[in-house]
Amino acid sequence: MVSPMCQYSAIDGVANDWHLVHLGSRAVGGAGLIIAEACAVAPEGRITPNDLGLWKEEQIPALKRITDFIKEQGSVAGIQLAHAGRKASFPKPWVGAELLSEDQGGWEPVAPSAKPFNDKYALPHELTTVEIMQLINQFAEAGSRAYQAGFQLIELHAAHGYLINEFLSPLSNHRTDDWGGSFENRCRFLIEIVKAVKKSWPDNLPIFVRISATEWVDGGWSISDSIALSKELKTLGIDLIDCSSGGNAANAKIALTPGYQVSLAKAVRDGAAIATGAVGLITNAIQAQTILEQGEADLIFLGRKLLRDPYFPLHAAKELGVNLVLPGQYQRAAF
Ligand SMILES: Cc1cc2nc3c(=O)[nH]c(=O)nc-3n(C[C@H](O)[C@H](O)[C@H](O)COP(=O)(O)O)c2cc1C
Repeated sequence: MVSPMCQYSAIDGVANDWHLVHLGSRAVGGAGLIIAEACAVAPEGRITPNDLGLWKEEQIPALKRITDFIKEQGSVAGIQLAHAGRKASFPKPWVGAELLSEDQGGWEPVAPSAKPFNDKYALPHELTTVEIMQLINQFAEAGSRAYQAGFQLIELHAAHGYLINEFLSPLSNHRTDDWGGSFENRCRFLIEIVKAVKKSWPDNLPIFVRISATEWVDGGWSISDSIALSKELKTLGIDLIDCSSGGNAANAKIALTPGYQVSLAKAVRDGAAIATGAVGLITNAIQAQTILEQGEADLIFLGRKLLRDPYFPLHAAKELGVNLVLPGQYQRAAF
């Protein structure tokens, strides 16, 4: 399946031809499930001014056109609901890497605590309880709009140092109220979002949660925290934990070896008895198939490999001896 990947190409959060061609190409290429990029539930929850959004009705029709196309190709259309928290207000990466000022179209980011990610990032506004409640509601409303836009699956983005992850981690959450301190309090924001989104999303359609299963830093969020959280998420009806890592601690050292996060997916799968997704430097068919056959994960999320080669699922099917049917228009090119 296609791992969510920001395209930083929307205007006012609205999808356009780029998103149709980008996501549509992966559907034509044979991906079984396509999760569209981090989609902001509020304007200030964007990483850049060009992120996708679902904070208003006007953003629905352009996404509906895309989900219709994905489904016509026999693929499943999913979307990641996100809030960038203290990592917001940057330009698209190929344009620059400096925080945007308000004059440049930037805004004041928000976070559980008034602590920046590092000295290149903004000092965030510490959310009040009322603002936290509003955000939970915004996730639920975005979930309802995602359904109206034709999506069949939601992934909640609780990884990579964005807002939900900032609440989970003791390194970024220094609150002393009900939303910080103990493990239970730090998990509350995500748990309340899950409960709210469940109410705005059909019972028969899946919800995934992407977590940073470890922060790779002593004293930070750990794999045992992830297992405990995943057990709770399972009781709330979450269908799969997508096991990524890192992104919340600027000093983390991560060894980027092939399949470097697969062991995290296995640990959560074994420890919490819930389906998991493996992601990160999975780049060939045998590697992906072996992860599934060895019971390390239930789904393979592919990111950059599918940017380089949207037809990778077709090539992988051939290599594995599976008969994946090409779209009618392309059948004269069948292997
Ligand atoms: C261009 C790009 C944009 C990304 N945007 C997101 C995103 O919107 N949400 C997310 O959870 N991860 C995002 N990621 C991370 C990927 O989903 C994936 O976890 C990561 O690239 C590792 O997988 P890979 O080695 O197969 O690329 C992004 C990665 C890339 C390369």
